[in-house]
Amino acid sequence: MKRFLSLFVLVVGLVSTSTSQSLTNNSKTVVKSATLVKLALPIKDGSLRFAVIGDTGSGSVGQRDVANMMLSYRQAFPFDFVLMMGDNMYGSETPKDFEKKFSDVYKPLLDAKVKFYAALGNHDLPLQTNYERFNMNGKEYYRFKKGNVAFYALNSTYMDKKQIKWMEDELASDTSEWKICFFHHPPYSSAKKHGSDKQLREIVEPIFVKYGVNVVLTGHDHVYERIKPQKGIYYFVSGAGGQLRSGDVKKDSPLTDKAFDRDMHFMLFEVVGDQLYFQAISRTGETIDAGVFANQRRKK
Ligand SMILES: [Fe+2]
Repeated sequence: MKRFLSLFVLVVGLVSTSTSQSLTNNSKTVVKSATLVKLALPIKDGSLRFAVIGDTGSGSVGQRDVANMMLSYRQAFPFDFVLMMGDNMYGSETPKDFEKKFSDVYKPLLDAKVKFYAALGNHDLPLQTNYERFNMNGKEYYRFKKGNVAFYALNSTYMDKKQIKWMEDELASDTSEWKICFFHHPPYSSAKKHGSDKQLREIVEPIFVKYGVNVVLTGHDHVYERIKPQKGIYYFVSGAGGQLRSGDVKKDSPLTDKAFDRDMHFMLFEVVGDQLYFQAISRTGETIDAGVFANQRRKK
């Protein structure tokens, strides 16, 4: 089912991010060193490519660093859209905050017509659903399709009966080859701060299993974790796109296949037919994790 991509890892380019930045308190110029992009994804013709970020809305230097690294990697791995795992906005949510914590940070990506699709986290107000650049069309949960992949953004803070019925109805009639759900609270997590949301798991997991959901992407815990497949489903926690809880992952957790809690990160995904490739990349460009999964519901 799963094999790792160490053989695929290659340096595809030395992407320069040498930009001059004026510091506000003096006139020094900071020139960032060149970024070594090490792509562990195949970049196949016609594949579906996207990025994942979570818990971004801080407006922090780290969030900007991650955004800049996403930009560097996009030069080697052109992706068209980004999934947001929620907590898109910490603190106040004025128009100025949307600039400071989102549109200014990701401006080069937005200018390049990269689309962002947001899920709501526990810190997010419903007004975000009307923010055009989150592409939620006024909805707290929604589905969209790209190629052979259906994406379901869920609101895990309020998993009410109405949402559950909507999800079941949509999934029951969904003939997409891949079904990927993304939302904020992780049904499985080895982080000390929050950890597995077992109450949510009890509700959603049977539905995911029944209707063949392949992959679940979440945030909330400010770390990276790839969970050992649970009931045949691949789970990721990607909650450190703008916040970090350093050292928060329990050592030797039976849930963990791979974890990283020393720096912020983002993820890249590539769907090639019945294969799903993934790579998690740190704020500084280090590859934290990479691999490939086969579609669970396809006969080999
Ligand atoms: Fe959260």
